[in-house]
Amino acid sequence: MRVHKSDEFTRLSLVKYAIRDLAPLAEELEAHGRTVYGLHAGDPIKHGFDIPEVLKRALIEVIEESPPSIHAYGNSSGDPELKEAIVELEYRKSGVRPAKEDIFITIGLSEAIHNLALALLEPGEFRTLPGPVYPLYMSHAVIADAKYNFYPVKPVVEDGGRREIDEDVLRRTAKDSNAIVVINPNNPASYVLDYRELYKIVDVAGEYGIPIIADQIYDDILFVDHYTHIVKIAKDVPVIVLNGFSKNFRITGRRVGYVRFYDPEKYLPKEVKETFSRKKRNRIKYVSMDFVTTKYKFDKLLRTRISGPMIIQRAIAKALKEYSKELWEDVRRFVEVVKKRMFYGYKLLKEIEEVEITEPQGAFYLFPKINVIKDEKCFVISLLEKYGYYTVPGSGFGAGGEKHIRILGLAKEEILEGFAEALRKEIEYIKNVRRGSQVSA
Ligand SMILES: Cc1ncc(COP(=O)(O)O)c(C=O)c1O
Repeated sequence: MRVHKSDEFTRLSLVKYAIRDLAPLAEELEAHGRTVYGLHAGDPIKHGFDIPEVLKRALIEVIEESPPSIHAYGNSSGDPELKEAIVELEYRKSGVRPAKEDIFITIGLSEAIHNLALALLEPGEFRTLPGPVYPLYMSHAVIADAKYNFYPVKPVVEDGGRREIDEDVLRRTAKDSNAIVVINPNNPASYVLDYRELYKIVDVAGEYGIPIIADQIYDDILFVDHYTHIVKIAKDVPVIVLNGFSKNFRITGRRVGYVRFYDPEKYLPKEVKETFSRKKRNRIKYVSMDFVTTKYKFDKLLRTRISGPMIIQRAIAKALKEYSKELWEDVRRFVEVVKKRMFYGYKLLKEIEEVEITEPQGAFYLFPKINVIKDEKCFVISLLEKYGYYTVPGSGFGAGGEKHIRILGLAKEEILEGFAEALRKEIEYIKNVRRGSQVSA
């Protein structure tokens, strides 16, 4: 007889996605007539932005001008025309032209994160994540019956928003791991790693012969004047680059992401390889074979879900190829507004007692540490129930999220002002309650 198992006793009980965990509570409040300000999800459209005008035009043209086959299932690994456009885009960003067959298009970048966990991790194996991390990297490792650990990416306090990785800690953590993940620019902490930090990751991955998974979905949303595409410095280390169009083109609901497999075995010139020791040459060959298998498994998984949405893929290809100038000009204007709002929010929060926050360098989140927090989730529930601001508890982002909350920093100035006021009141309230309990004790 089949025995009913409650969620508590299944593998999925460990699967959490803190960004949407409080959605039922938020919906209930709204159903009772309360205004809820959604500062939880990274969705620009919900905060007054629109999609690029030329992308809208491209969508209409694709629908009007394409044969009926545009409404049919497409290639599992993605629209060939969008792959061509991504080859050019990745070439411009990294300086190394990928082969078309090394590009895979997914249903949002989320699908890529899911499939990569299944393709790379066998049950019991683990991978190494930055702390704090975007939660899907934890959830999908668990779904794959695997594990994860963290290397901390810590603020260099005296130096604006700069963060550092302790290479020895990374080396210890990644020993026996089968991949190192880096999210740059980062969600949730909005830092941008400079090339010195990225080199540490490349060196450790190279030493152990494991690939780097580099999530660069925010690489167009920068407030600093430096950015290093990981492929530029990967040398002899294989990299799986993850990117997409949800954020820069503000099409979160259209669901288009992509993966680029960069295998140095294919790119390193023979003369360079000849300078390597035999051991190193063999290791590169071995890692490369492994990499081919991962790519094969990834492709196989894409076939099981038949195809992604085709009209939007073709429209992005059209916009990138035919309206490139207007498209990137639109992204530039979007980033200008995001930067203005992010710094406004940053300054408001910085002035609040008990709040520590580093200067944002890219992406669109604010991730303050709030010293009075004892339980992040309770704190976030209070902000939602008492004041209507829906944020995310730092504990949902793994190591380094303690006492933190994540706020969407691209919200309009007046919403950020209201939020800062609510935060100030809640901190004051907690301090008063604690003072009161000390007096009565
Ligand atoms: C770092 C990072 N990777 C991946 C994703 C998923 O993107 P998509 O909406 O394309 O699935 C997000 C979304 O917030 C993200 O922040």
